[in-house]
Amino acid sequence: MTLSTPAIPPNLDLAALEHTMRDAAARAAAFIAARAATRTTLTWEHKGPADFVSEVDLGAEQRIRETLLAPYPDAAFLGEESYDPAAGLGPGLGFVVDPLDGTTNFLHGFPWYAVSIGATFAGTPIAGVVHNAATGEVFSAMQAGGAHRRPHPAAPPGRITVSRITDPARALIGSGFPFKNHDQIPTYTRQFAEVTRATAGIRRAGSAALDLCDVACGRFDAFWELNLSPWDLAAGIVIIREAGGIVTTPDGAEVTVSHNGLCVGSPAMHAWLLNILRAA
Ligand code: IPD
Ligand code: CA
Ligand code: CA
Repeated sequence: MTLSTPAIPPNLDLAALEHTMRDAAARAAAFIAARAATRTTLTWEHKGPADFVSEVDLGAEQRIRETLLAPYPDAAFLGEESYDPAAGLGPGLGFVVDPLDGTTNFLHGFPWYAVSIGATFAGTPIAGVVHNAATGEVFSAMQAGGAHRRPHPAAPPGRITVSRITDPARALIGSGFPFKNHDQIPTYTRQFAEVTRATAGIRRAGSAALDLCDVACGRFDAFWELNLSPWDLAAGIVIIREAGGIVTTPDGAEVTVSHNGLCVGSPAMHAWLLNILRAA
């Protein structure tokens, strides 16, 4: 499952596909927003250390699945909450879904969490939608169609591009801490120190999908995280590429829609950050 450009069949209408993905994201985001007031009474289940799920994640995924598979019944569906490691994305259309990215933020009432829906063809990402359920901001992109932002779902889309800053001393860098995989803390803290010394600062907002969109629209000049899942990155990497950014792993390798880390940014800041990460 690579990021190289796949041949999309002429009968696959990408605009219609993106429309359905935005519908699915909006439906899930409305459900999440309506449940936000009840967060203190929700039951949290542990999926693993520092990894929680509630009926809100499950209800959002169910709504997304119904909305996407109604017009695309043969598509593969890889959702975080129904993930089957044995199931692949198949030779045709597939969806890679994080129904609530930033679950810990949501559960604490920290207003920064999103629905992330990526579409793949033959396993390669071709479209992405990320809907901030706390603010209503929507990011979207489809292959060769550019990347767009709507301040709220009904607003007309505006084209977005990555930042033009090239001086690291002026750069704001997004990141995610290795809070689940503690073996990565020593590597990460070396990288953190080098990036902190050279830039205007680092931010950790708690939703990787939104971090990627913040790179795509130039709020962050670059971003890195050492350990992400397919559903964290499938949508955001299309949005960044279509906004003119570069996406690799923290080692500089090609990114696949699987479990791996990311180093992303504008062309200039990606190159700079990659050097720092490799040397640290
Ligand atoms: C998490 C968020 C977080 C990132 C984690 C992800 P979740 O997703 O994106 O920013 O650091 O690696 O697992 O669990 O809230 O969907
Ligand atoms: Ca996630
Ligand atoms: Ca999630």
